Amino acid sequence: MNYCGAYLILMPCFINIVFPCINKKNTHTQNKNKNKKMEINHKVVTENTTIANRPHCLVLAFPAQGHINPMIQFSKLLVHEGVKVTLCTTRSFIKKLQNLPPSMSLESISDGFDHGFEGISPRIYITKFLQVGPQTLIELLQNLAQLGYPVDCIIYDSFMPWALDVAKNNGIIGASYLTQNMGVNSIYYHVQLGKIKVPISDEDEILLPSMPKLQNWDLPSFFFTYEEEPAQLKFLVDQFSNIQNADWVLCNSIYELDKEIAEWTTKIWPKFRSVGPNIPSMILDNRIKDDQDYEVAQFKREDCIEWLDNKPKGSVIYVSFGSIVPLNEEQMGEIAYALRDSNHYFLWVVRASEENKLPKDFEKISEKGLIITWCSQLKVLQHEAIACFVTHCGWNSTLETLSLGVPTIAMPQWSDQATNAKYIVDVWKVGIRAPFDDDKKKIVRREALKKCIMEMVDGEQGKEIKKNATQLKKLILEAASVGGSSHGNILEFVNSLQGTTCG
Ligand code: UDX
Repeated sequence: MNYCGAYLILMPCFINIVFPCINKKNTHTQNKNKNKKMEINHKVVTENTTIANRPHCLVLAFPAQGHINPMIQFSKLLVHEGVKVTLCTTRSFIKKLQNLPPSMSLESISDGFDHGFEGISPRIYITKFLQVGPQTLIELLQNLAQLGYPVDCIIYDSFMPWALDVAKNNGIIGASYLTQNMGVNSIYYHVQLGKIKVPISDEDEILLPSMPKLQNWDLPSFFFTYEEEPAQLKFLVDQFSNIQNADWVLCNSIYELDKEIAEWTTKIWPKFRSVGPNIPSMILDNRIKDDQDYEVAQFKREDCIEWLDNKPKGSVIYVSFGSIVPLNEEQMGEIAYALRDSNHYFLWVVRASEENKLPKDFEKISEKGLIITWCSQLKVLQHEAIACFVTHCGWNSTLETLSLGVPTIAMPQWSDQATNAKYIVDVWKVGIRAPFDDDKKKIVRREALKKCIMEMVDGEQGKEIKKNATQLKKLILEAASVGGSSHGNILEFVNSLQGTTCG
């Protein structure tokens, strides 16, 4: 599967509700009064900082659920520390969202496909975005300045490295925001340096500084699709093409999760700082009032909390594969029968586009199980009925489960997920990996998954893993709370913006 293709091409197929296009000037003006109110409510960083000279960050989110979510959460933390934030993403993506973030100003740039890009190949999409995106970003900066909101700093998703060039050419601070795991970033960076050669051979073991030894199957999936579609890997590797010019390199991770690689990365990019986990505050120290869930959603949530309320503590297996990855029918069948045969309660998120792959005789509501198309994952993971999480190991799901101390059964499918699984299982020891069958089809068979479930719920290894998960949860909470490493890094970043204001 193609990374950009999955994000940029598959996503529109999943979304049925189309909202009116956002007019950028109107959006900002609409939010102007609201912001004035927020300005009064939010504290300022230094005694000398006034509302008028608050630093203004433009936060540029890549158009995908798994990317905009953490950037919105990071933005909330900045606002909490007295920064003015304007969130920005593409017009075509805004049209696809079911709701807009109510707590901040929203602006848009163009990817060249404002009226949609269904049927457009990823290669054409990226080429067009590169041609159109930078110019519309420049126009946005000019518009904001004219409206009286000059931008002091662009915080851009590292998937759009051209935004740094725009920032630099306009005399603005540029901060790269990495949405993925530090280890994953290091792998792509080493490809950029030419130290990992592609295509890799079947036997290759990868040894990188401050990282565990990686086997072939621990690498991001794009290494294996490189020969048929080199553009995918290139797209990811290009995140690091100009990163040495960034004023800051911020990462949605936690220093304590992997001190060695954090230290190593800081040697490479002295302004590297971990600022995560960028997830709703309610799960962490509740520092931000009413911050209970992500503000934008791609799919309509179904209620399952009442169902969970009626289940005993630690009795339910939660299963979800995130917002993008499709499973094949054979794999769906194996999961279904593993859950049935385990004889445990289960809650399984099967997106509407995947439902037709369920075995025909498999009930969506049964004595032991409930299948829903989408839920509030945060509320589910917090529920005391949950025993463990069978996950694809997307980075957001990983951060959520680590932050809530829920043990995992890793079933990585695509992109960065295999590397995340490696860390979950071998470095943090908070999960087990469900092994593939011996054949080349990369299917986890029902017996293998059932064995993992039994081990996790009833086995000795499960107990050990639960203990580790609880310890890691504590570390993450400390890092995110006032006085912790991520909080300190955010303050350092915000304080560096003081005195840079052009407003
Ligand atoms: C994608 C890639 O697949 C992932 O590997 C990469 O790290 C980020 O981008 P996605 O597949 O959507 O993301 O997975 P993930 O990163 O886990 O994000 C899914 C988000 O959807 C999570 O925040 C999760 O809480 C949310 N979710 C999932 C729901 O709110 N409800 C659900 O039913 C399932």
